[in-house]
Amino acid sequence: MNVVMIGSGYVGLVSGACFAEFGADVICIDVDQDKIDRLNRNIMPIYEPGLEDLVARNVTAGRLRFSTSYAPAVREADLVFIAVGTPTRRGDGHADLVYVYDAARQIAQHLDGYTVIVDKSTVPVGTARQVERIIREENPSADFDVASNPEFLREGAAIADFLRPDRVVLGVESARAERLLRELYRPINLIEAPIMVTNRESAELVKYASNAFLATKISFINEISTLCEQVGADVHAVAKGMGLDGRIGRKFLHPGPGYGGSCFPKDTMALIRIAQEHGASCRIVEAAVEVNAAQKARMVKKIREALGGSEAGRTIAVLGLTFKPETDDMRDAPSLAIIPNLVDKGATVRAHDPQGITEAKKLLPQKVVYFEDIYAMLDGADACVLMTEWNEYRGLDLGRIREVMAGNVFVDLRNVYERDMMSRHGFSYTDVGRC
Ligand SMILES: NC(=O)c1ccc[n+]([C@@H]2O[C@H](COP(=O)([O-])OP(=O)(O)OC[C@H]3O[C@@H](n4cnc5c(N)ncnc54)[C@H](O)[C@@H]3O)[C@@H](O)[C@H]2O)c1
Repeated sequence: MNVVMIGSGYVGLVSGACFAEFGADVICIDVDQDKIDRLNRNIMPIYEPGLEDLVARNVTAGRLRFSTSYAPAVREADLVFIAVGTPTRRGDGHADLVYVYDAARQIAQHLDGYTVIVDKSTVPVGTARQVERIIREENPSADFDVASNPEFLREGAAIADFLRPDRVVLGVESARAERLLRELYRPINLIEAPIMVTNRESAELVKYASNAFLATKISFINEISTLCEQVGADVHAVAKGMGLDGRIGRKFLHPGPGYGGSCFPKDTMALIRIAQEHGASCRIVEAAVEVNAAQKARMVKKIREALGGSEAGRTIAVLGLTFKPETDDMRDAPSLAIIPNLVDKGATVRAHDPQGITEAKKLLPQKVVYFEDIYAMLDGADACVLMTEWNEYRGLDLGRIREVMAGNVFVDLRNVYERDMMSRHGFSYTDVGRC
């Protein structure tokens, strides 16, 4: 089966490589010449564990190729996936569909024989219909269907998520399109992952509703963590007690500096706009968004209070910049909201991250100083802020840190360490929601 991925970013590249692993012939296309040149030299444009090996294996086997050109790949394709970005549109919070529509127009010019065009990007309800209209206008004689197949992979665990998903959601309007998609996903069906088939509108909404629900769960526990601090409760005990109820579940009940990343912030905003456009209310998601912004502001206050009321003139060393571990993705990371605040108030900020520094340099204030060595960064610092729970921050040499730091303030925004242990090492320790 010939598969084309339009867009070779986190989703397009991982999905393309995984479809190739299933045995399909895949061409990943991107407008970014540099990205494609690097991929052709087996240099990954993103950090995702296991991706380099997966790509190399499938390239060597002749099942995976990269190109900047839609032709001849689209002409020969059975399925063309659109996996381009759908960022928040400047000014109004809607999902920006310019890249999706541009891809649709370009695909239309090269269609030859029956082809299924599949929206894999996260797109508002009605987008599959719009893509169909665009292709029909551009190429009235084309033989095609448009389907929706939202992607649920998580960065950092993307390959495992793609190969062993909780579910595959297919939004289709034709039996022919469904047959082709089912055939492509057959290896997943063999491991008994459910393949759910529905109409395109439902498939489009499943993705937004899922992300909004998970974001709400995070905001919920973050709000509870604030209450825990007021009443002397331990948010971990509360989360555990809640999560053991099978109806609630334990996942996504970890307090922290707020959700970030390339999906939750933009998808919650987009869902609110979709609801408004259709005259429906989305108040729970609106509250989740508000709580998330408040949580980031609360983290800044926490750091300030830990420093005795002012960050001016103090040196703060930040461990972790990406929105979560095992990715280099800095999009909407909480660090992007918290660090500029500290810099504005006169702090000197130093930062370390195992994978995110290249991206962080483009997004954080120029005054931030980056370090490759954790202990060199902490040398002379007044405070250490653990922002992202990378594995290498879980077993820090606390004795050595205490020795090299000028101050003893440790603000743990991910609750990686225990209060007793930190006190024993002489730290003044602050966490999120534990008594
Ligand atoms: N990143 C995730 O974890 C994740 C998970 C599930 C769903 N999604 C959704 O998948 C979509 C893609 O996200 P991403 O994180 O992979 O984005 P990304 O920014 O990493 O990649 C998008 C790629 O598309 C390319 N592109 C843009 N216009 C193009 C065009 N006309 N033709 C060819 N290539 C083009 C860009 O150059 C870029 O390389 C978004 O809608 C996102 O919401 C993302």
